[in-house]
Amino acid sequence: MFQFSELVFVYLICSQSHIFLNGIQINYVQVPAAVRNNSNRSAILDCNYSIRPDDTELIVKWFLNEELIYQWIPPQSPQSLGTLKDNIDLDYKASDDPKTVYRAIKINNPTTQIAGEYKCQVSTLADEDFSMKNMIVFEPEAKLIIRKRMDDKYVNFTCLASDVYPSPKLFLYKDIKNNLYNKTSFFRIRLSIVEWDVKKNPNTGKYTVFIVGVDHLAELEPGTLIHCELKIPGTGYVKLKTLLYYPDFYTLGNGCLKHWLNRNLIFYAFTLYLLGNY
Ligand SMILES: *[C@@H]1O[C@H](CO)[C@@H](O)[C@H](O)[C@H]1NC(C)=O
Ligand SMILES: *[C@@H]1O[C@H](CO)[C@@H](O)[C@H](O)[C@H]1NC(C)=O
Ligand SMILES: *[C@@H]1O[C@H](CO)[C@@H](O)[C@H](O)[C@H]1NC(C)=O
Ligand SMILES: *[C@@H]1O[C@H](CO)[C@@H](O)[C@H](O)[C@H]1NC(C)=O
Repeated sequence: MFQFSELVFVYLICSQSHIFLNGIQINYVQVPAAVRNNSNRSAILDCNYSIRPDDTELIVKWFLNEELIYQWIPPQSPQSLGTLKDNIDLDYKASDDPKTVYRAIKINNPTTQIAGEYKCQVSTLADEDFSMKNMIVFEPEAKLIIRKRMDDKYVNFTCLASDVYPSPKLFLYKDIKNNLYNKTSFFRIRLSIVEWDVKKNPNTGKYTVFIVGVDHLAELEPGTLIHCELKIPGTGYVKLKTLLYYPDFYTLGNGCLKHWLNRNLIFYAFTLYLLGNY
């Protein structure tokens, strides 16, 4: 009859020998998470692996979205293929070790055409391993603007970003002044969004997006700062545009007195704003 301890022993032997038989191990694949389109920089994608000293017939391959773009079969020199045929620096050396020297790819001037999933695959006669990572290539917006529209109750702020890639996220905030212990501080609150839209330009693939945030006229102090924030997810790219809010009283009425009053109110508010800054 088997003892429990014997079973554990057998299991340990088997699991250890399994690890031992694995000749190749990819330690990590390092790919820049995000690069800017057409920035005339280069991106280095590295594939760090360990192989056993007696392993033979090493082959290192890189794929972009499942398309073979690079292969190195030592002792031959590496070659680039397909979409990246003319974009890889074949002289780039990742190490001095002849078993890993050409494991990495250096891509000259990445553009949005070569964004996607990069896979490194390493094989020998006995074994194979692969690992992948995504690379985003982004194009900053051509324009980011905020506009204001108001009636006698509400103020709408439209934030529009044009020709961005990939599709960005927009947020509208207003600054709230907080007077506490004779100290003025600001914090931001989100405006509630009443309308939004995303359009993709079929020719360029770029996105134009807008959001409309609303606030009550009565709750908006003249001189409030309204911020529009643009983020491209996964890239760390952030852009901020700010508008200094003043109501346009001229749209509210036609009365001559009102007109005069409002002009003076604006002047008064603006003076207060300036004073508040000193
Ligand atoms: C990225 O840059 C390339 C080269 O200038 C350009 O052809 C391509 O349209 C750009 N991509 C986007 C999404 O703007
Ligand atoms: C791109 O970079 C290379 C080398 O860094 C430089 O020689 C070349 O002038 C640059 N091109 C542009 C358009 O900036
Ligand atoms: C590959 O990764 C291992 C483990 O992280 C590290 O010890 C080694 O220095 C790396 N090799 C190179 C050439 O970077
Ligand atoms: C603000 O936006 C809402 C939703 O799109 C719209 O119904 C309303 O007429 C707008 N108000 C102004 C003053 O533009």
